[in-house]
Amino acid sequence: MAKSVEGPVFKKITEAATLLNTDAYVVGGFVRDLILHRPSKDLDIVTSGDGIELANKVAELLKVKKVSVFKTFGTAMFMYHDWQVEFVGARKESYRTDSRNPQVSPGSIEDDQNRRDFTINAMAISLRTDDFGALIDPFHGVDDLKNKIIRTPLDPDITFADDPLRMMRAIRFATQLKFQILPETLDAITRNAARINIITKERISEELNKIVMTEKPSVGFYLLDETGLLEHIFPVFTKLKGAEYVDGKGHKDNFKHTLEVLDRIAPNTDNLWLRWSALLHDIAKPGTRRFDPLSGWTFHGHEFKGMKMIPAIFSDLRLPLNEKLKYVQKMVLLHLRPIVLSEDVVTDSAVRRLLIEAGDDIDDLMTLCEADITSKNQAKVKKYMANFEVVRSKLKEIEAKDNLRNWQPPVSGEIIMEVFGLEPCRQVGVIKTAIREAILEGTIHNNFEEAYQLMITEGLKLGLTVVRQHLT
Ligand code: CTP
Repeated sequence: MAKSVEGPVFKKITEAATLLNTDAYVVGGFVRDLILHRPSKDLDIVTSGDGIELANKVAELLKVKKVSVFKTFGTAMFMYHDWQVEFVGARKESYRTDSRNPQVSPGSIEDDQNRRDFTINAMAISLRTDDFGALIDPFHGVDDLKNKIIRTPLDPDITFADDPLRMMRAIRFATQLKFQILPETLDAITRNAARINIITKERISEELNKIVMTEKPSVGFYLLDETGLLEHIFPVFTKLKGAEYVDGKGHKDNFKHTLEVLDRIAPNTDNLWLRWSALLHDIAKPGTRRFDPLSGWTFHGHEFKGMKMIPAIFSDLRLPLNEKLKYVQKMVLLHLRPIVLSEDVVTDSAVRRLLIEAGDDIDDLMTLCEADITSKNQAKVKKYMANFEVVRSKLKEIEAKDNLRNWQPPVSGEIIMEVFGLEPCRQVGVIKTAIREAILEGTIHNNFEEAYQLMITEGLKLGLTVVRQHLT
């Protein structure tokens, strides 16, 4: 173990602890990741002395100028090259990164390990001179790592009461590391699920996002659902569950389908918001579901209604209400378009329309649509995928030809008003639409000259008179 804690940072921590006549240990995630061979440069240092004092001493020895001190919490941190080093005094109470309770009584390293979340996160490596590099693993975290088990060091009811977010952390680690949650621990999550409500939405979303970003996020979502946590943190999503039957005709379970789409998109994108688009693409299906005796189950307008639901969902989960929200809305609104397009003969004009509406996000939209094909009917899947290929190559061809991404009308409303001596009025809109339609239909090219000519023709058709030519 000693070899793994080599380098100037560790050396200076040992030196500083000796100078201050105290001890120091690396704990938590760094130790776990070290054993898992997942290199990390986030160091959490615990001392039975004063964390701030130790941080200042180490910084002095490393010639680090800026130390951020959080006096109320007794913690301090600094950056040394790309290392982020945090110091804290060992405590008897539960460890929480954002503890709101600054009243902590000092403890030993054992006390500190006792109050951590999981056995795999409760290991420490000594940086003391007398046993430098020794692993202190009172709860057999190494075995749990080997056996891929998530387990709390204490009675899970106590560990989860200390910080209920840990219930989500257990599921996040299980999903991320492909570990199993010990049945007793899992039962305790189910038992304590309602306690998640005392946790801030921001912390909850942070964990949820980490689950969304794993290799196979469905694992986490099924666990959240099974334990009852999902109903508390994201109730609207659970409404997707189940399939209703009328006259023996059922529709697919949209909960399962959505999670399958999320898993299918995961290998193709690390864009969190594209993954969120996958999660939310069918969110309005429960609200738009109808049974028609002739055509069976329909979900008319679910893309539009879904788009409308997203601001409230983002606001509730404290996700950003900015261009990320707009992006997800756009993806949800447009998610059926490439499919509809590919069901029929793929015409140039339909591709142009899609390109204008999706703009720079067209590739992401195609990625979403491809993930959305979860049919078990292989022939159907093959047909869709082949048609998507046609759509993709048509998109490329038309883009190169017409330069339609982030399209702006080649003749603006101002020019129309100037040429015909108009104030803003309905006729300006009529002419603009005619130009846009002509470009989309391919009757004119996407350039100023042809659009200008068409403007004159359309204006004359409306009985307008040219009062001045626009000079470019
Ligand atoms: N910890 C805890 N309870 C929490 C949060 C954190 O006991 N609710 C402890 C664990 O020992 C954990 C350490 O604090 O290993 C550091 O926490 P954090 O930085 O949040 O997570 P990591 O375990 O480092 O993992 P990751 O970086 O993947 O979040």
